[in-house]
Amino acid sequence: MRFEDKVVCVTGAGRGIGFALAEAFAKEGAKVVILEVNEETGAAAAEKLGATFIALDVTDTRAVQQTVAAIVEQFERIDIWINNAGIAHKALAVDLTPEQWDQDIAVMLSGPFYCAQQVGRVMIEQGSGNVINIASVNGLFAQKARGPYCSAKAGLIMLTKVLASEWAEHGVRVNAVAPGVIMTDLVQESFDSGLMSPQKINSRTPMGRPGEMNEVVESVLFLANDDEASFMTGEVLRVDGGWTAYHLFYPFEEAF
Ligand SMILES: NC(=O)c1ccc[n+]([C@@H]2O[C@H](COP(=O)([O-])OP(=O)(O)OC[C@H]3O[C@@H](n4cnc5c(N)ncnc54)[C@H](O)[C@@H]3O)[C@@H](O)[C@H]2O)c1
Repeated sequence: MRFEDKVVCVTGAGRGIGFALAEAFAKEGAKVVILEVNEETGAAAAEKLGATFIALDVTDTRAVQQTVAAIVEQFERIDIWINNAGIAHKALAVDLTPEQWDQDIAVMLSGPFYCAQQVGRVMIEQGSGNVINIASVNGLFAQKARGPYCSAKAGLIMLTKVLASEWAEHGVRVNAVAPGVIMTDLVQESFDSGLMSPQKINSRTPMGRPGEMNEVVESVLFLANDDEASFMTGEVLRVDGGWTAYHLFYPFEEAF
């Protein structure tokens, strides 16, 4: 019960990594708030975990403001906020529509900023709190056909460092996790449909396999723990099986 009675909010927690995070914090005794644009999956996730569900589109600044106010009204504080919601458009830069670009940036860079800004004000007043941003190895390494995704995640990593610098003196830590390929339903579907090849992913990853959701979850639990990660802020923790440590020296066929 490492997070007993802590108020933990997770965006995009209706499924995937966000749900796994919500589940883990609930098991550790936290009061979990599931924030999800998909009302069906969000409500089902909350019911399964005995958590609170609030429908939220993180790109809607007004809704973010109202949601943070409603959480504070109900729980009187916010201890941990995880910016996890994500989408990804796959298209070469020359083929991208402005809408695709705008949507990726809105969900994975502007949305986390809107949330962090509102939550940061609450945490600064409390004199404590943790913001954790789920970035990606794609925020550190380029990938063809992922221009807006890579740009949003790179921006999110830099935003993490700026907020960490601004809020350290107020007792608020801000960190990021950069996962490599993680086995989620979405990745499994990509394997099944042939969009992604498990063999190519495995051969590109020094550890020879994709990551599991619990491996991302454990890194977030660590960063969120004020005893274990007390002197860590502005960190980008890579959970990638060695993906970004490894530089291929021969041409590699695209994995995606
Ligand atoms: N799965 C991977 O291999 C991997 C690797 C690196 C980083 N990530 C990152 O981890 C996070 C979660 O990924 P996942 O694989 O679990 O994805 P997922 O698609 O399974 O889950 C994302 C969730 O975010 C929600 N969402 C989308 N737009 C939203 C919005 N505007 N407001 C609120 N919620 C919204 C979706 O409805 C969905 O429930 C993402 O930020 C993703 O970029 C995933």
